[in-house]
Amino acid sequence: MTEYAPRNTPLEQLAQLETEALQALEQVQTPEDLDRWYHTYLGRKGALTAILRSVGSLPPEERPAVGGRANEAKRRLEAAYDARAEAVRQAQLARELEAGAIDVTLPGRPVGPGHLHITTRTLRQIYAIFAEMGFQVYEARDVETDEMNFGLLNMPPHHPAREMWDTFWITDEVLLRTHTSPGQIRVMRERYPEPIRVILPGKCYRYEQITARSEHQFFQVEGLAVGRHITMTDLIGTLTAFARRFYGAERRIRIRGSYFPFTEPSIEADIDCILCGGKGCRVCKYSGWLEIAGAGMVHPVVLANGGYDPNEWSGFAFGLGVERPAMLKYGIDDIRLFYGNDLRFLQQFG
Ligand code: DAH
Repeated sequence: MTEYAPRNTPLEQLAQLETEALQALEQVQTPEDLDRWYHTYLGRKGALTAILRSVGSLPPEERPAVGGRANEAKRRLEAAYDARAEAVRQAQLARELEAGAIDVTLPGRPVGPGHLHITTRTLRQIYAIFAEMGFQVYEARDVETDEMNFGLLNMPPHHPAREMWDTFWITDEVLLRTHTSPGQIRVMRERYPEPIRVILPGKCYRYEQITARSEHQFFQVEGLAVGRHITMTDLIGTLTAFARRFYGAERRIRIRGSYFPFTEPSIEADIDCILCGGKGCRVCKYSGWLEIAGAGMVHPVVLANGGYDPNEWSGFAFGLGVERPAMLKYGIDDIRLFYGNDLRFLQQFG
């Protein structure tokens, strides 16, 4: 006769399973062990899940006790699992830290404090000089209309002088300003009927080949004075004062006649070469002179377009470069360095 071992009751099976599962959990070291353990006991095909599923097939009087006990076991095993998972994670982290290259006692890398760009510094020097002569700073827009950039500056459509500025067009009527001069119209329309003494700094854009001497984006500082008794003498005095403050007190100024559609008469101002003092060198192309500004008396048509009656008002205007003066002053021989973002260059002007 075969002896059959007495079959465990479901409650005994549950107690056994729980003990076994908790013991097995203590052996778990790695995330992989952890997954395997979960699969064996709590997963969809795990041992406890099987018991929970079988509760329905027990005799009705046994169901509540077994079901309750099984749910309890499930809660305890889940809590134990969570605790173990956290311990495994911490252990893993500790191992990584130990193996890793983080030495928290090493000094940090120094953080460079940064400094102003050479263009910004140059602009600020220019502002300071004109501020002392009573000029306010007015910022006009970079995206302009054809009318502001050309038309109201006395260059109607097809005017030949438009050829002086190769233009980036956005639409037939909208463009990137080719010079800061359109700001003159904007200031006049805003300030009328007050007298005006402003400078208008800003970036200009020209559809041109980039070379060591010319960029397609660069800064200008426009100047505009409008009043009742303004003369060419005021203009020359202002430019002379500026040149001596910016380039050195010993500078000499030379005024030449020129042409711009928005001024009448128009001039260009030169200084004696800051490198050779006028004897002639490579930088001044052996002329002894360097051009620093285009300027003139505001054309009556432009005054009127700004709202000022040219019979009562007069004014002067000028346009200065920014990068070229900085190049002269600091001996920089390539304009492309300004916006090339090479720190080895930029850091020299800290
Ligand atoms: N707008 C001129 C240019 O970009 C520079 C200039 C010349 C401005 C004469 C002026 C001026 O205000 O009077 O070439």
